[in-house]
Amino acid sequence: MINLLLINGPNLNLLGQREPSIYGVQTLEAIEAELHKKAEKQGIKLETFQSNSEGALVDRLQKAISKVDAIMINAGAYTHTSVALRDALLSSEIPYVELHLSNTFARESFRHKSLLADRAVGVISGFGPMSYQLAFDGIIAFLMHQERK
Ligand code: DQA
Repeated sequence: MINLLLINGPNLNLLGQREPSIYGVQTLEAIEAELHKKAEKQGIKLETFQSNSEGALVDRLQKAISKVDAIMINAGAYTHTSVALRDALLSSEIPYVELHLSNTFARESFRHKSLLADRAVGVISGFGPMSYQLAFDGIIAFLMHQERK
């Protein structure tokens, strides 16, 4: 059975009320519920975790070592700043997909830089809540392809 972990970073707990013109009106709870349904249909185990704290995110990533096949991560603002999250992801040796609701390249220049992207399997950015579905499909396709190799 494939084990997937979805990580959400700071302020993503406010989805639905936070800058809806940028992030849409769907709550994180609703996004996660949709993904759980999708995972269940495909016989995939999905765990989710959200924190506003960098240390808690690092702790969760460390807990995933040797237990999770792939990670989907929307690190929020930490995407652009956190060497600690990058190090935790790389130390885990777990393949990951970076995702964003907004198209970070169409926004302020400080959002154009990601400390995670160059080592990600892929990056999904700009599809609103659908970015989560696309990230899920992408990472599953990646894992299936790996298995066939
Ligand atoms: C975000 C983009 C980040 O730049 C921002 O800090 C967020 C959300 C997104 O999903 O579009 O918190 O990761």
